[in-house]
Amino acid sequence: MRGGDRPKAAHVEFSDVSVMPRSMWEPWLVFRKPIDGRVQDNLRKWGAGGFRRISAERPFGDVIASAPTRAAERALAQHPSLKPQAFLRQLVRGVLPLGKGIVLDPFAGSGSTLAACEAVGYASVGVERDRKYFDLAVEAIPKLSKLAMKAD
Ligand SMILES: C[S@@+](CC[C@H](N)C(=O)[O-])C[C@H]1O[C@@H](n2cnc3c(N)ncnc32)[C@H](O)[C@@H]1O
Repeated sequence: MRGGDRPKAAHVEFSDVSVMPRSMWEPWLVFRKPIDGRVQDNLRKWGAGGFRRISAERPFGDVIASAPTRAAERALAQHPSLKPQAFLRQLVRGVLPLGKGIVLDPFAGSGSTLAACEAVGYASVGVERDRKYFDLAVEAIPKLSKLAMKAD
């Protein structure tokens, strides 16, 4: 939870009070091209059409717990929408159901998604229109991808 939920100008006096529940979730949407035959046919032909399971016992879930982006990551990639590596690595890993293929990020920003691909061993391609962020991504991707995560 980020700051700002306590009573304005009285946050010290009422340090244990939240004025209203703070939003702690961000929805995300999944789009899939119509499958070619059955899911199994599509997987064989295109290697796509599902998510990579976390393990044989654990499916890919629709909630990914995440903390805000760490200061160490923000220092490497100063983009206003930088997403945490710990979150992106889980998401990116899931989008190639067979662990084969290439991830495309058409809005790459400072390259955090591409760095997450690198970290999980996936090839990726990014597109970024802002030269400043493109240059930042070139610098940041190798550094972000090498950061160790708690779960690593
Ligand atoms: C939400 S940010 C992505 C941030 C990224 N996930 C990161 O961690 O740095 C979206 C990015 O898309 C870029 N963008 C917007 N429209 C674009 C377009 N038509 N083609 C390529 N990049 C675009 C913006 O410049 C911005 O950096």
